Amino acid sequence: MIIKTEKDIPSSEITDPLLFKQRRKIIKAILASTVASSAFSSAFVTGEPGWKGLPKTNVLANIEAPTPIDLVKNYTNYYEFTFNKEDSTHLAQNLKIDPWSVEITGEVEKPVTFHLDDILSHQTLQEFVYRLRCVEGWSMVVPWVGFPLASLLKLVKPLSTAKFVKFTSVYQHEIMHNVMLEWPYVEGLRIDEAIHPLTILAVGMYGNTLPKQNGAPLRLVVPWKYGFKSIKAIVKIELLKSAPLTTWNKHAPNEYGFYANVNPSVPHPRWSQISERQIGSGFFTPRRQTELFNGYGEQVASMYQDMDLVHFF
Ligand code: MTE
Repeated sequence: MIIKTEKDIPSSEITDPLLFKQRRKIIKAILASTVASSAFSSAFVTGEPGWKGLPKTNVLANIEAPTPIDLVKNYTNYYEFTFNKEDSTHLAQNLKIDPWSVEITGEVEKPVTFHLDDILSHQTLQEFVYRLRCVEGWSMVVPWVGFPLASLLKLVKPLSTAKFVKFTSVYQHEIMHNVMLEWPYVEGLRIDEAIHPLTILAVGMYGNTLPKQNGAPLRLVVPWKYGFKSIKAIVKIELLKSAPLTTWNKHAPNEYGFYANVNPSVPHPRWSQISERQIGSGFFTPRRQTELFNGYGEQVASMYQDMDLVHFF
């Protein structure tokens, strides 16, 4: 048996006390959501990772098995820190995520700033197994733990003038040194996309809390859109009358559209989107054929039926 000493454990795996506190709160919420499940309770008692028992939402019958967690944790896009997908793992450990609050404002009846605990106390967590397709041409399957964004938005009572939702990530300038883009990272959705039942806020993955590099403590996941829409470490949500200018759209409007729906027939100006490399697949495994709306067409296509998806890419 190999016993790991602290020296052998990568710094990314050492839990700082604040993260530990944060994690306990989320674990409490997970536990509250699954209190009836004996499978979950026994896993909780034995401290096993990968708890079972959360209500599961898996709309794709033919979805592949989840990507091994170590690959998902160690191949991340967190451009505020770096463009390097491996370095973001350890650089993100410097993020301060406790206490955490999210301001929800704009075209709403009840603007509010929620602490993460308040958010969790209003939600029943579920597991959502989703495909994640990055605009760069790779994909993963991730079992997220979270809740529909709609069930948070309904608490602030959106006004009929709310047509779009803008999301802003945290910007901790003393640790985020990548000056190639303008921060904070901003993303946006149309209101019907935002309240679609597949659109979730995730607080965990693989039955545990979110690693910092994957967007802790709270991130968006929109499975039918390219991964850059799934903004990490959200601190502000604004309901707006018109579409917000988003980070990638502002940086390169001809390359990254506002909608960013996964679409194999609309190539990126510098590469094709016809196929994707599945993270974790073998060297000789053929690339996967990319599907319109990342395979979620049955659930979401009606939102775009009158739109020219080449123009609104
Ligand atoms: N959110 C923030 N704040 N900063 C980022 O750089 N990268 C996006 C998205 N959310 C990003 C972000 C991109 S390009 C992708 S593909 C996904 O996060 C990747 O999520 P993952 O790193 O957890 O796989």
